[in-house]
Amino acid sequence: YANVLSMKDLEADEVMAFIKEAQQFKAGKQIQLTRPAYAANLFFENSTRTHTSFEMAERKLGLQVVDFNPAVCSVTKGESMGDTVKALQAIGVDVVAIRARQNEYYNQLVNDRHIHLGIANGGDGSGEHPSQSLLDMMTIYEEFGTFTGLKVAIVGDLSHSRVAKSDMEVLNKLGVQVYFGGPKKWFDDRFDAYGTWLPVDDLVEQMDVMMFLRVQHERLDASENKTFTAAKYNEKYGLTPARKARMQDHAIIMHPAPVNRGVEIADELVECDSSRIFQQMANGVFVRMAIMASLLRYQGLVDED
Ligand code: CP
Repeated sequence: YANVLSMKDLEADEVMAFIKEAQQFKAGKQIQLTRPAYAANLFFENSTRTHTSFEMAERKLGLQVVDFNPAVCSVTKGESMGDTVKALQAIGVDVVAIRARQNEYYNQLVNDRHIHLGIANGGDGSGEHPSQSLLDMMTIYEEFGTFTGLKVAIVGDLSHSRVAKSDMEVLNKLGVQVYFGGPKKWFDDRFDAYGTWLPVDDLVEQMDVMMFLRVQHERLDASENKTFTAAKYNEKYGLTPARKARMQDHAIIMHPAPVNRGVEIADELVECDSSRIFQQMANGVFVRMAIMASLLRYQGLVDED
């Protein structure tokens, strides 16, 4: 792929190809580069998992990683993201992962004929998070060996979540039955076409996967944050020990993290036997290896012999 930007661009067989290659990387597969190649990670919004796992993936693929710190870069002097990317390209960077606050920030980059390095979207505002979505799919596939017939619920702060947007898109394409839960004010017209909203007490008994989303306090307005109470949210919409006890034995708990412990999920359940939250993070490295390998292949930088 020239770029990996949105799950809207990937069909089910292409998603499966990413999962299969990520599984091969997990099993130890390596690639050979045709020359020394360079990556940079431009995270204009904060990140722990996505930023570090892109860097880990790049290093495991044999890429040299050029340090980029948004706090001291020339964007602070007014340079555009396009000119920033062109500067990195000019000094020899081949692939970048970018996270930015603006939805679909990547359109201005891919429509610029002077930009030809590979771009992986590390998250655009409340738009999409394709690398998270692919690692979520890999984790579900590892667990069940299929997507056919599965029921997956996405519960919580749907309207601000880029993970929800990417996951509902791809889960539909993979033939999974999608359900939603959490505060009704966060379930709007955008979600209707993808699945059905149910109370969380119904979801826990019926689902194969309960995926909880972080309440994004940084995107809520002051009045919403003022009236928010962790305990009340957990009791109404979150995973409590009582709800966990009503889940099917084979069902798993997911969360893209960071987790607001005691809000979306009771503290003691974050690492329980049914939780795959840290497995999701581990799989993120291998999925991001597959994403970066696809960008490198497009540029002829992978020796396929
Ligand atoms: N899940 C996720 O995107 O986490 P970070 O914000 O820490 O990258």
